[in-house]
Amino acid sequence: MFFLDHLDTNRQGHLTIDGVDTLALAEEYGTPLYVMSEAAIRENCRRYRDSMERFYGGRGMVAYASKAFCCKAICRLVMEEGLGLDVVSAGELYTARAADFPMERVVFHGNNKTPDELVMALEYGVGRIVVDNLTELRLLDTLAAARGTAAPVMLRVKPGIDAHTHSFIRTGQIDSKFGFALETGEALSAVQEALKAPHLRLLGLHCHIGSQIFDIEPFCHAAKVMLEFMGLICRETGAALPELNLGGGFGIPYIQENDPVPYCRYMEKVSGVVKETCGKLGFPTPFILIEPGRSIVGTAGITLYRVGAVKTIPGVRTYVSVDGSMADDPRYALYQADYTFTSALRAEEPKTQVVTVAGRCCESGDLLGENVLLQEVEPGELIGVFCTGAYHYSMASNYNRIPRPPVVLVGEDGPRVIVRRETLEDLIRCDL
Ligand SMILES: Cc1ncc(COP(=O)(O)O)c(C=O)c1O
Repeated sequence: MFFLDHLDTNRQGHLTIDGVDTLALAEEYGTPLYVMSEAAIRENCRRYRDSMERFYGGRGMVAYASKAFCCKAICRLVMEEGLGLDVVSAGELYTARAADFPMERVVFHGNNKTPDELVMALEYGVGRIVVDNLTELRLLDTLAAARGTAAPVMLRVKPGIDAHTHSFIRTGQIDSKFGFALETGEALSAVQEALKAPHLRLLGLHCHIGSQIFDIEPFCHAAKVMLEFMGLICRETGAALPELNLGGGFGIPYIQENDPVPYCRYMEKVSGVVKETCGKLGFPTPFILIEPGRSIVGTAGITLYRVGAVKTIPGVRTYVSVDGSMADDPRYALYQADYTFTSALRAEEPKTQVVTVAGRCCESGDLLGENVLLQEVEPGELIGVFCTGAYHYSMASNYNRIPRPPVVLVGEDGPRVIVRRETLEDLIRCDL
């Protein structure tokens, strides 16, 4: 019925997720409610892992970028699927450890990690720390020296690639706060310094060109640029770095018109580029890491909202207000993200009106979508928003002191709460 396999309708015409009626979920757990399909997440993990196996002989690691959605249950789930984990803060790292995630499979990112976070990474024994800048490089060397250890590091490099995506989520070009620039020679001198640092063990390089990218070409281009740079490093320093991390950023369909590349095609093409470039350079093929976040959990999630007021301003527009807001979904306010909305009650009925879906925050910009097609919904009706598994719960705030919604995971044994709803008491827990 819909463009996502785990979403359908039942005999009553209600929206279902993995066969479970969303009206029953809303009844049991309240709204707003994030719901995720466990099968869809596992399937995405397997697709990546299998294509790494098939096209690159398994000489790599798929590390789930937990910034997309981080909680203990998701860490456990991707661990069971054999993936690694990309974390970007003490909070994500702490969550990973609380889920007993194997630390050697953790990749620690961040453009401004604090000294405490670096100490935590060393003490936890994370497998790879991706160093962003010289300040961090020197600090980490000192911190590792104080502990009589050598930190396993990769260096984040900006390959100078302009991926065609929103400027807020584009990161590979020279004007970016992340990493060392290639063009200016900054990256090469950082590599030279890292190789000389007595308490750093330089494993390789990292790049991430942006997010929600549909085209394979920029990824292939980035892989080629990075490998040519690894060849240059080898010629200049004699060091053949054994690892290359190509980041994440693979696009997902928020609306039917979006046309993502199957992950296996991505792996096939990029593996081909890696092997071919290494062959030409006479450079050993490196261990490859990739870091998908959105494409592991994004399509797996939906958000259920209850409609409140419906306000038609003649000749202007119709506002459909819901009991959620930019506090649980900031993506439209941030970058006018597209979404698919439907009535959960009458999911099979044609969408006959064009509306603006408004949140309940005290902010005119608190919209979840404009010019959205929707059925003639009424106050009290349940609506569903597709593809809210990534960068929703993880980006949620308590703006206007609104408690965050819970997350329900629909698995083989039915639905279960993996993150409980915040209470009003939670909101004042840190107040003194
Ligand atoms: C370094 C790094 N790796 C991986 C990702 C995950 O990207 P995506 O969720 O688009 O796959 C990000 C996203 O910002 C990132 O910054």
